[in-house]
Amino acid sequence: KKNISVGLLGLGTVGTGVFQLIEKHQEELVHKLGCGVSIKSILVCDLEKAREVAVNPTYLTTNPEDVINHPEIDVIIEVMGGIDETRQHILKALKARKHVVTANKDLMALHGTELQKAAYQNGCDLFYEASVAGGIPIVRGIADGLVSDRIQKVMGIVNGTTNYILTKMDDERVSYQDALKEAQELGFAEADPTADVGGLDAARKMAILARLAFSTSVDLEDVEVCGIENVALKDLQLGKQLGLTMKLVGFTHFQDGQVEVSVEPTFLSNVHPLASVKNENNAVYVNGEAVGETMFYGPGAGGLPTATAIMSDVVAVIKNMLLDISGRQFIPPRFEKVLKTPDQ
Ligand code: NDP
Ligand code: HSE
Repeated sequence: KKNISVGLLGLGTVGTGVFQLIEKHQEELVHKLGCGVSIKSILVCDLEKAREVAVNPTYLTTNPEDVINHPEIDVIIEVMGGIDETRQHILKALKARKHVVTANKDLMALHGTELQKAAYQNGCDLFYEASVAGGIPIVRGIADGLVSDRIQKVMGIVNGTTNYILTKMDDERVSYQDALKEAQELGFAEADPTADVGGLDAARKMAILARLAFSTSVDLEDVEVCGIENVALKDLQLGKQLGLTMKLVGFTHFQDGQVEVSVEPTFLSNVHPLASVKNENNAVYVNGEAVGETMFYGPGAGGLPTATAIMSDVVAVIKNMLLDISGRQFIPPRFEKVLKTPDQ
């Protein structure tokens, strides 16, 4: 094929980033794939909304079937968010033998295993690099880069919105509400930011990472979660006087057949490498038996950074298509539900 057609479900912060990246980096894609990538149809809510990108209006639709069952489209990029309706769209797309790339951690944390099985049964790929830590290639870093190692611990800052809020409160004494408003305006926050500030977004990402790192079937309800809603400026100032910085830290650990997963505001010493991760940036430590300590760092949210993760999946899908090896990625968990927190 000279060109691969893709469809977008969503043209918000991330969808716009994908649109821009495909438009601006077409040369790189052609060079690396030997074929071009073009967008043929885009699902949105509001056809009249002003868009940041010059999209052909005939490509916009409010009917998901126009994207999912478009005869020329091979790859569906899901960047609309949501759970139940989106799950149905993805299952339909997989049944129609379309490969799927998603940024949706809510969905992957809740229904990831079901969707991956459906992809495998239909001979399709389902990739989700953008679902954890935005532009940082952490999913592939763990799944492929550290595939031969025994991972013991994963720890990090995996929510850009809360890190942005805590940075602004700590460095500039901006109020919690104003900092949240800024994070929303910059497109880092979820449509409903409750999941960001309440720690649920980070919990979803940590569940995905724990499954990948330890090959276990961790559920979302197994994650202990505490958000930053009750953090006050005076807490951060007090920490500062003691040489401490507060971060929303995700932690998962595997030892003696037990997994622990948690997300909570944590005071870190100012010399701790995570203490200097600022604004919407994320960082993830992975500790493996053979590799030792590794740290992945970069932008954890935002349109273009997240789009680079999506396009890395799109390229992986297309390479598999061209080699005729799609849909071979389902690896069942090695340990079915071994999760126990130490105090249970
Ligand atoms: P936005 O709210 O900015 O965009 C959502 C888009 O999907 C909009 O274009 C909207 O249409 C469309 N849409 C939403 N619901 C429907 C529906 N029911 N039917 C049709 N169209 C719909 O979200 P983001 O781009 O910020 O996030 C998208 C996904 O990416 C989410 O899963 C999010 O968690 C994830 N993500 C986001 C990151 C970020 O930095 N923002 C980073 C990593 C992942 P319309 O434009 O007409 O309103
Ligand atoms: N709302 C999310 C965050 C987007 O702030 O990290 C990236 O997943």
